[in-house]
Amino acid sequence: MQVSNRLAKVNPSATLAMSQKTNELKAAGADVINLTMGQPDFETPKFIEQAAIDSINAGQASFYTQATGLPELRAAISGNIERRTGYHYDTNQIIATDGAKFALYCLFNAILNPGDGVIIPTPGWVSYVEQVRLAGGVPQAAPASNGFKVTVDDLDQVVNQHTKALIINSPQNPSGTIYSRQELTLIGNWALRHDVMIVSDEIYSDLTYNGEDAPSMLSLDPTISANTILIGGVSKSYAMTGWRIGYAAPRLPSPRPWRQFVATQRGIPPRSVSTVPLQRLTVMVVAPKPCGLRLKTG
Ligand SMILES: Cc1ncc(COP(=O)(O)O)c(C=O)c1O
Repeated sequence: MQVSNRLAKVNPSATLAMSQKTNELKAAGADVINLTMGQPDFETPKFIEQAAIDSINAGQASFYTQATGLPELRAAISGNIERRTGYHYDTNQIIATDGAKFALYCLFNAILNPGDGVIIPTPGWVSYVEQVRLAGGVPQAAPASNGFKVTVDDLDQVVNQHTKALIINSPQNPSGTIYSRQELTLIGNWALRHDVMIVSDEIYSDLTYNGEDAPSMLSLDPTISANTILIGGVSKSYAMTGWRIGYAAPRLPSPRPWRQFVATQRGIPPRSVSTVPLQRLTVMVVAPKPCGLRLKTG
């Protein structure tokens, strides 16, 4: 059987291949440190695990939930974004997903027509390229000239009439660099001038070196915020990579087509945001109390 042309274009994950290699080296006794995946070096806090257990014991795990997430989860995410960025989303603009990766998958499928370009600053997270391809888009690599960050000059080199979106990931994978407010503003205004929407992947917003703050795209001028789709989640901040809870906050004129897309993709996922315990405990995590887990490494 032949796979579809779309799937045939997708390359295997370099991250997973390197991780596998590291595991093999470790098993063979080599002294190596695995820096391939964005895994925090601590475990999920106990109160979070307990909330999931309590929820199962309370019989809350038996039934389907809304495909876009429990309303109280989406309200908690909205509150969390507002505290962090000052920007308010209505609950129905938030789409809870099975990790930020699935949020990006849904996003690219929701916004890209065949041949639409997406600018991806490089070096960058490898999955962006394959996800854009899978959705029929064209990845446009923009080599970063300013200490792993792109400048508007870098963007000018690659933009063309097919460019539809630009991904900004700050703090950035793999370098950890953070775009300053001024740098983000220049990029935000550049995107407005070129009618390019910004996908702001802020999954690492709580993991910064030396206590530095990572400004959000949403905390800038309202015209820039209105042109931004925020991607986030709890994997990194709360050591919950195995749990898979993320979200997308689209500033589309109507998030409805996107919600419908998510709903059709999420029938009977084996382990997902449709499971009630995960959603209940995530409400605890992203709600103001009792988290206190804002991390600053370094
Ligand atoms: C830049 C970036 N965005 C998104 C993700 C996906 O996060 P999640 O675990 O929520 O799917 C990762 C995971 O490594 C990442 O590095």
